Amino acid sequence: MKTILSIIGTRPNFIKIAPVYRAFLKYAPEVKHLLCHTGQHSDDKMSKVFFDDLGIPAPDFHLGDNSGSHAEQTGKIMVAIEKVLGEVKPDLLIVVGDVNSTMACALTAVKMHIPVAHIEAGLRSGDRSMPEEINRIITDSISDLLFITEKSGLENLEREGIPHEKVFFTGNVMIDSLVYLREKIAASTILQTTGLKEKDYFLVTFHRPSNVDNQHSLQELIRFLNEISAMKEVVFPIHPRTLRKIAEFGLGDTVSSNVRMIEPLGYLDFQSLISKAFMIVTDSGGIQEETTFLGVPCVTVRDNTERPVTVEVGTNILCGSDTGIVLQTIRAAVAGNIKKGTIPELWDGKAAERIAEIIVHKL
Ligand code: UD1
Ligand code: UDP
Repeated sequence: MKTILSIIGTRPNFIKIAPVYRAFLKYAPEVKHLLCHTGQHSDDKMSKVFFDDLGIPAPDFHLGDNSGSHAEQTGKIMVAIEKVLGEVKPDLLIVVGDVNSTMACALTAVKMHIPVAHIEAGLRSGDRSMPEEINRIITDSISDLLFITEKSGLENLEREGIPHEKVFFTGNVMIDSLVYLREKIAASTILQTTGLKEKDYFLVTFHRPSNVDNQHSLQELIRFLNEISAMKEVVFPIHPRTLRKIAEFGLGDTVSSNVRMIEPLGYLDFQSLISKAFMIVTDSGGIQEETTFLGVPCVTVRDNTERPVTVEVGTNILCGSDTGIVLQTIRAAVAGNIKKGTIPELWDGKAAERIAEIIVHKL
């Protein structure tokens, strides 16, 4: 029997691991697949709701509450996962995405001579001021198996000297979740409960430190949201980091009553809101991919993206962080200038099955 341990710690991790969890069930009991939650995200609305919505079991291990500064969070997770790895002695550790939990656990495992597989490897924004870019570079450089979602990953990893035998273009596990849960998403009643009108609202999310950690940037962003709320309703499920910063800078009263700030939503309701929105305005990584898959216009308020395929073939418009330019782009869309797109290669709902097959073959 072989044992695989998968790491989950943040909202997007749960969504990416759910199809991987299902794919390994096919190989049980010869392959035992365990889940470890690092506790990076701990609010029910950032964690528990996803286990319920995605149909994944409670994790086999939980490392406790691991919030804090980058060093604190990374250090605490490394100390805690070392104990679990020592106990479980997995034949392989799986990490997903680019968050601190990903890098901390991969680094701990390789030093214990435990092989590491990285799902969603190879993405690069080229912007080393983003914590995620550092996490991606470190994780990819020490991983034994690298599964990529789009072809830009092949070039990025080749440029960094990663041997091509380690790299597999398998598609996008985040899209696997969307495909698998299509019917449940369609059954969500969030539009009725919020009273929003189909294709007549902007869905907004912001949580990047470059947008929300600086008072001036956050003030600009709120001014911009107030302005677009005069065109169409704005619904803003708010990330805990952003909520905390709005309170810290005393900006709560500056948000127009036309901007509907609500708590973070569960997976099914949020996907339903994406699919029925006029447009998404975001700085999220995963939402750039989901909107491309669903063919919904997306404006990304960042200067770069690690997911270029969403701009090249998808519906994503990379606007930069100048809210004046973002506003022009949105006005053009409201006037009828809508970007159309196609679905990237291998975003077909079967990425996790391909990944599991390769892993089982290599174990
Ligand atoms: C993290 C990831 C980011 C990812 C995002 C997904 C890193 C460096 N960043 O950013 O790449 O896009 O998750 O959402 O790993 N908080 C709570 N409760 C929670 C979660 C967060 O209160 O359940 C608050 C805490 O004040 C915490 C802060 O948000 O200190 C930041 O959380 P953290 O996980 O460090 O970073 P994110 O901004 O969530
Ligand atoms: N998401 C959600 N509820 C929300 C906001 C986002 O379910 O209120 C989903 C979103 O559709 C995507 C994932 O969470 O699947 C992305 O998480 P986030 O934007 O926090 O992280 P990133 O992808 O930027 O790392």
